[in-house]
Amino acid sequence: MASITIRNLDDETKQALRERAAQNGRSMEQEVRCLLDDAVSSGSGPEQKPRLNPAQDYTETVSISAVDEEFGNYPGAGKSVLLIISGGIAAYKSLDLIRRLRERGVEVRCVMTDAAAQFVTPMAVGAIAGGQVFSDLWDRASEQDIGHIRLSREADLVIVAPATADLMAKMAHGLADDLASAVLLANNRPVLIAPAMNPQMWANPATRRNAALLAADGISFVGPASGEMAESGEAGRGRMAEPLEIVAAVGKLLDDRPRPLAGIRAVVTSGPTHEPIDPVRYIANRSSGKQGHAIARTLAQYGADVTLVSGPVNLPDPDGVETIHVETAREMASAVEAQFPCDLAVMVAAVADWRSAATATEKMKKQDGKGPGSLELVENPDILKMVGHSADRPRLVVGFAAETQNLETNARAKLKRKNADWIIANDVSPEGGVMGGDRNQIAIIDAKTTLKLPDLSKTEVATQIVERIADWFAENTASA
Ligand code: C5P
Repeated sequence: MASITIRNLDDETKQALRERAAQNGRSMEQEVRCLLDDAVSSGSGPEQKPRLNPAQDYTETVSISAVDEEFGNYPGAGKSVLLIISGGIAAYKSLDLIRRLRERGVEVRCVMTDAAAQFVTPMAVGAIAGGQVFSDLWDRASEQDIGHIRLSREADLVIVAPATADLMAKMAHGLADDLASAVLLANNRPVLIAPAMNPQMWANPATRRNAALLAADGISFVGPASGEMAESGEAGRGRMAEPLEIVAAVGKLLDDRPRPLAGIRAVVTSGPTHEPIDPVRYIANRSSGKQGHAIARTLAQYGADVTLVSGPVNLPDPDGVETIHVETAREMASAVEAQFPCDLAVMVAAVADWRSAATATEKMKKQDGKGPGSLELVENPDILKMVGHSADRPRLVVGFAAETQNLETNARAKLKRKNADWIIANDVSPEGGVMGGDRNQIAIIDAKTTLKLPDLSKTEVATQIVERIADWFAENTASA
């Protein structure tokens, strides 16, 4: 994901941009965006991402630029934040926060208070943020063009992490005696604070009053959490939220994408199921859950209210999704049923077709000379079939067909048998590396058409499927 760092432009360009931005009453960042938008709409800019057309077989023809698979369309990608680090022991976590935001494509500029520099060095912060760290309100170089105003104007969001009781008090009362507080007072951007302090300080009536004032001023909070304090023997509420929680809160605040699936309730299954044989052994398959989780996350990003029913996987729960963890096919079936009525079902899980007829309560022992015992298998419930034939059937039912041969024929048969609206067929032959891998090549099959997509990342596959789902609901929902 490309991003432009304004401070890396040469001085002449920067000056021209500054004047243009001032004339148009925009920040420099906004000005760059407008210039790029103009360039793209006049046709001189970079080529736009192609929208796939169901009438065409794209297998050979379309290549779509890869997005960052691991972080799956983070809503803040391509945006910039100003991180203000104030002086608390939790400042060490800010280094991790910077790293995690940057790896998701967010540009991070940093301001540190003098007290913060007692806990982490500006050198470390600058090295991880990949730029200069600002800390001096009287810095001649940056204040010549009113740096404390520019710093926040050029950001999409201002984050204060950690936010000490002292800085919260200054913010609540409009003090501006150092760069951090001056930036915050001159700021016109949304602000997110991650308070971090001793539990007695957090509970102190003065901090309570300040927190209430800040909340009333529209400032967003993440944390603090309860737990052990750095001071030995102290525990309670006051720990700074973990970097990934802050990243999630930042993502929500920066998310300005349209939400075409708002009001749609969806249930998604993902991952394998584990069917126990005895307390230590089970039947499973190689599904990683990556595709199902990417679909659940993308549906939520498009505004759907999503419940993900996940078998055992090695993945974090997707942001913005309610995740129910199950082990077996039968548990998955009842968790899915409990979501009815809903509008959409996307059944991605590689559910084990069979389970052991009996589950031993003790570990089955090898008995010398007797050879292996035999395992009696019984069939598991077919969840997709149950959903497709349910009296409460969702309006759109989507299944997957993982096949190693006769992909399209088998998928079409499945569409009928399970009463699904679409089957997403994918070839899971071992040489393709789909099971557990990061890429997938699918065909979307409905009663009439087959749309073959090129080899894409699983995140991009999720986007392609979810865009089609959004189109389907737009076409099949009567306007009031
Ligand atoms: O019959 P097959 O397992 O190939 O069908 C695959 C589709 O059916 C997938 O959407 C999968 O999630 C779903 N399925 C299910 N319950 C099963 C078996 C498959 O929901 N027991």
